[in-house]
Amino acid sequence: MNDRYLDFTHSPFGKTLASMLGLPTPPRLNRADAAWAAQGLAGAHVLVGGDSAAQLSQPLLAALTASGTQLRIVPEHAGLPPLKAAAATLKLALAGNPGPASGEAPNRAIVFDASGLSSPAQMRELYDFLQPLVRGLVSNGRIVLLSRAPDAADSVGAKTMATALRGFMRALAKEVGKNGSTCNLLEIAAGADSAIESPLHFFLSPHSAYVSGQSLRITAARGQPVALAGSLAGRSALVTGAARGIGAAIAEVLAREGAQIIGVDHPSQEGALGETMARIGGRGLALDVTAADAAQRIAAEAGGLDVVVHNAGVTRDKMLRNMSAQHWDMVLNINLAAILDINEGLLKRGLNEGARVVCISSIGGIGGNAGQTNYASTKAGVIGYVDAMAPAFAKRGGAINAVAPGFIETQMTAAMPMGPREIGRRINSLSQGGLPQDIAEAVAFFSSPAAAGVNGQTLRVCGQNWFGA
Ligand SMILES: NC(=O)c1ccc[n+]([C@@H]2O[C@H](COP(=O)([O-])OP(=O)(O)OC[C@H]3O[C@@H](n4cnc5c(N)ncnc54)[C@H](O)[C@@H]3O)[C@@H](O)[C@H]2O)c1
Repeated sequence: MNDRYLDFTHSPFGKTLASMLGLPTPPRLNRADAAWAAQGLAGAHVLVGGDSAAQLSQPLLAALTASGTQLRIVPEHAGLPPLKAAAATLKLALAGNPGPASGEAPNRAIVFDASGLSSPAQMRELYDFLQPLVRGLVSNGRIVLLSRAPDAADSVGAKTMATALRGFMRALAKEVGKNGSTCNLLEIAAGADSAIESPLHFFLSPHSAYVSGQSLRITAARGQPVALAGSLAGRSALVTGAARGIGAAIAEVLAREGAQIIGVDHPSQEGALGETMARIGGRGLALDVTAADAAQRIAAEAGGLDVVVHNAGVTRDKMLRNMSAQHWDMVLNINLAAILDINEGLLKRGLNEGARVVCISSIGGIGGNAGQTNYASTKAGVIGYVDAMAPAFAKRGGAINAVAPGFIETQMTAAMPMGPREIGRRINSLSQGGLPQDIAEAVAFFSSPAAAGVNGQTLRVCGQNWFGA
């Protein structure tokens, strides 16, 4: 569905009127319009900084260089020594920051390595670096912070500051969202330094246009890091609920990345499923995911799967006092029990070594909406489930994660009454609903072997929706 207000505020008349009346103007977001490229950030200028005890300078500079970015530094700041030492080891040139009046290309992103912060006084280094730069952040700019995961911190001070950084990141994301920019935090576990490349690329790229205010934990993974570009080529991927909406977008984006798609949808949607699959060269499987033999039928149809995306989901909203047992059972069975049962079956037969599973949760499962006790139970359950299953998937060289969408423009949200729909759309840092593609891009990232160090995580793709945050 079109966001008419956003379109209006970008027309000449609407722009003037909005500015006269002091109305908000939702920014237009730059989204990816092609598959991951080998040097996905080629030519983009990235300003790099860090604290004086930063621990990740070397993997950070190596990762940015691998993606084709042009590195810039602020010549006077506390974190320069670790950066310069890393650049010397890697034989990299660091250009000075030219400043807004120089006529040179602006910085597309700012990355700050805060992994060495261990006291409130030292956090001043982060303030000193970023405070003068925020005003000049380009529209659709990116700020990415790096830290050690709080639970991997080796002192009270380090844990305190790694947690302080989460608050800083969330607050800054709310400030920069007005011009379509995002701010996110990568928390790097000990031993996972070499796994930062792909998550960093994802967060710096247009593939993460609707992800802001989020932290993602990166852990060590088996094997050598893999680049995102081409990493899904030829892989077999199953997507449930693929006939329309978010599921269709996930199937399309995975196909764009070269995966062979098997789309599953309820037999009542066979026609629509066929049309979606025909568009992307995929195969359709008309199947109710709650069928007792669902896993066996999937395994028989697919052979070995590299990627499974559990997207099929329904709502049947009613206050608990009025909710029928039928609607309770239906939502629990489709949104949660089917995921557990299908995975259990596929873990016995149907998943290739290294397979990656992505489940679709919801911010409704985090915040809890009145009238959605059934739905919220399932979507919160998914978050606990991926956490609980992560070790089992890691043992096989794979991973299981969840994506929690916020307000996404689909048939489901188009059917909402206008008032709640308008509120739902605007209560986030980017003042607009997301598109199915936004969820699909995050799912594609999680589906890729390039996201090897991401396991058991739930990423909100919600424009930093205020709900449940
Ligand atoms: N749209 C949003 O704003 C939003 C927000 C948060 C989470 N989500 C979640 O994203 C997922 C997709 O949502 P959507 O908005 O695209 O919904 P949708 O209703 O447009 O699509 C859901 C698909 O799942 C299929 N499905 C339902 N029951 C099935 C069954 N028993 N077996 C097989 N297929 C079945 C439907 O036929 C449909 O094609 C859902 O899990 C939903 O809970 C959506």
